[in-house]
Amino acid sequence: MIILKIGGSILTNKDSIESEVDAASLKRIASEIKRSFDNSSKELIIVHGAGSFGHPPAKKHKIGEAFDESQYPEKRLGFCEIQNEVKRLNMFVCEAFIRQGLPTIAIPASSFITANDKRITKGNLDLFKRYLGKGFIPVIYGDVVLDDELEFCVISGDQIIQYLSVNLTPDRVILGTDVDGVYNKNPKTHEDALFFDKFTSLEDLDTLEGTTNVDVTGGMVGKIKELLYLADLGIESKIINAEVEDNIFKVLENKEVKGTVISRGN
Ligand SMILES: Nc1ncnc2c1ncn2[C@@H]1O[C@H](COP(=O)(O)OP(=O)(O)OP(=O)(O)O)[C@@H](O)[C@H]1O
Ligand SMILES: [Mg+2]
Repeated sequence: MIILKIGGSILTNKDSIESEVDAASLKRIASEIKRSFDNSSKELIIVHGAGSFGHPPAKKHKIGEAFDESQYPEKRLGFCEIQNEVKRLNMFVCEAFIRQGLPTIAIPASSFITANDKRITKGNLDLFKRYLGKGFIPVIYGDVVLDDELEFCVISGDQIIQYLSVNLTPDRVILGTDVDGVYNKNPKTHEDALFFDKFTSLEDLDTLEGTTNVDVTGGMVGKIKELLYLADLGIESKIINAEVEDNIFKVLENKEVKGTVISRGN
């Protein structure tokens, strides 16, 4: 089983406030996955990020922050707005995949996962197993969920990756984003950033500022934290650049692709 994340940074333009899908990237990625499926059948779960559909409204409505009882109706409506936006992106994703002939089935986190203080505590994955057993490709994405402590919170696609990986023990965990992997600082703002083939500790970063855009779940640093937690449990993951043509195809085919392996080993 392979768990593959397609970052919201590739599917959308996160520097824009417009929620528009990058149709060309989406189509290319869908066709790369199809090509790999045609080569050999595999069990695959897709997780995608929220990109410019989810992060800006989540920031606007301050979902995940404490609020007064009097603000409840407004927060609840904000929650609905975000849920609908990320669902809209998911429909674009599934549509592109189905057009390629990939049997994708959406399983939104907001309909079965709950959290406590922004961490997933409950979410029955039996349905994932049933769909996988019938040859479907389950698709789940960064979403809003009910939170026991905070009423509402946002859970990132990266946290979902972590939760699925702990509970389903996949053979491989791959995250596609818009940079080659992890650097000691943001490569988009620092030309001299150093690349890591292997990343083992947050201490290797020069700065804990993991994002230059609207990402409400911590950008690269939030991602690495989820993956180091997985590494602690002995589950290795790899971050690759999904903007580079053929990278997704190659990685699914277990071919060498530039990227950062997150592990605790040497
Ligand atoms: N040390 C770092 N190494 C690599 N990238 C970094 C670093 N610090 C910040 N970044 C930024 O992190 C971004 C990728 O994280 P981000 O969460 O925005 O993408 P994503 O996971 O693909 O999107 P989404 O969260 O919507 O799914 C890159 O665009 C890069 O600019
Ligand atoms: Mg992110």
